[in-house]
Amino acid sequence: MDLGLKRKRALILASSKGLGKAVARQLVIEGAEVILSSRNADHLKETAEELNQLSEEAVTYFPADVSKKDDLDALTDFTRLHFGALDILVNNAGGPPSGDFLSMADEDWQRAFELNLLSYVRMIRSAVPLMEKSGGGRIINIASSSIKKPIDGLVLSNTFRLGIVGLTKTLAGELAGKNILINTLAPGRIATDRVAQLDRQKSERTGVAIQDVRTQSEAEIPLGRYGRPEEFARVAAFLASDVCSYITGESLLIDGGLVRSI
Ligand SMILES: NC(=O)c1ccc[n+]([C@@H]2O[C@H](COP(=O)([O-])OP(=O)(O)OC[C@H]3O[C@@H](n4cnc5c(N)ncnc54)[C@H](OP(=O)(O)O)[C@@H]3O)[C@@H](O)[C@H]2O)c1
Repeated sequence: MDLGLKRKRALILASSKGLGKAVARQLVIEGAEVILSSRNADHLKETAEELNQLSEEAVTYFPADVSKKDDLDALTDFTRLHFGALDILVNNAGGPPSGDFLSMADEDWQRAFELNLLSYVRMIRSAVPLMEKSGGGRIINIASSSIKKPIDGLVLSNTFRLGIVGLTKTLAGELAGKNILINTLAPGRIATDRVAQLDRQKSERTGVAIQDVRTQSEAEIPLGRYGRPEEFARVAAFLASDVCSYITGESLLIDGGLVRSI
């Protein structure tokens, strides 16, 4: 199926590696033009060079910390200058620290709010006028399977990801008249550095060998393995495309069957 993504203009947050990078890669394969962003300029440069091997000059980048308003304003200005308008926004951020409720101070809650929820609010507010210029658009908010089933020891994630779901559902109504469709993607356990780090932390906490932590974790997944980033990215590419024309406000799990809720 041709997704019709050729020459579409996409801004992808937190995309030097992991899920964001995989989505960028898939969009480039489909012919889109992409702005990458995350904090470390050297990593961004490397990723942009790698993706430009797939399609020359399809990718550029601009460093920004999504938890800082000034950085997001500068990223919006760069996007306006580079593209003029915008077709696709993929909201993403680093994961918040793990830990139980009683270990979290006000500052931890504030930081996680700014990183994992307010950054999405701010970027959508900046992107909508740019999408109106191109007659509409697609917004994808990356969250977590914790929107369906809270994950032990991730109280910050469990709390703020649900805010994304409420935001997405509300904006599906408010933005439909502008031809902007918005959806949430909820990864379960996709094999990225973030998941490897969580496994490592669990291994240190419990004394179980890291490989056994992963084996036990994979055994909970009906498909019996962690997902591959490109499996996540292909779904994102569909939701980012015009072929996805009648789905908005939805939250979609990409978890190999992990969450057993109906
Ligand atoms: N992988 C999964 O299965 C899974 C499951 C549930 C939820 N998630 C969530 O999905 C998101 C992406 O996960 P991932 O697995 O792709 O993580 P990852 O492999 O650790 O990649 C994180 C990316 O985010 C960037 N980043 C981190 N903090 C940032 C900040 N403050 N501002 C801008 N960019 C920032 C990093 O680059 P810099 O460090 O250079 O900024 C990097 O490019 C996370 O929020 C994670 O918790 C992932």
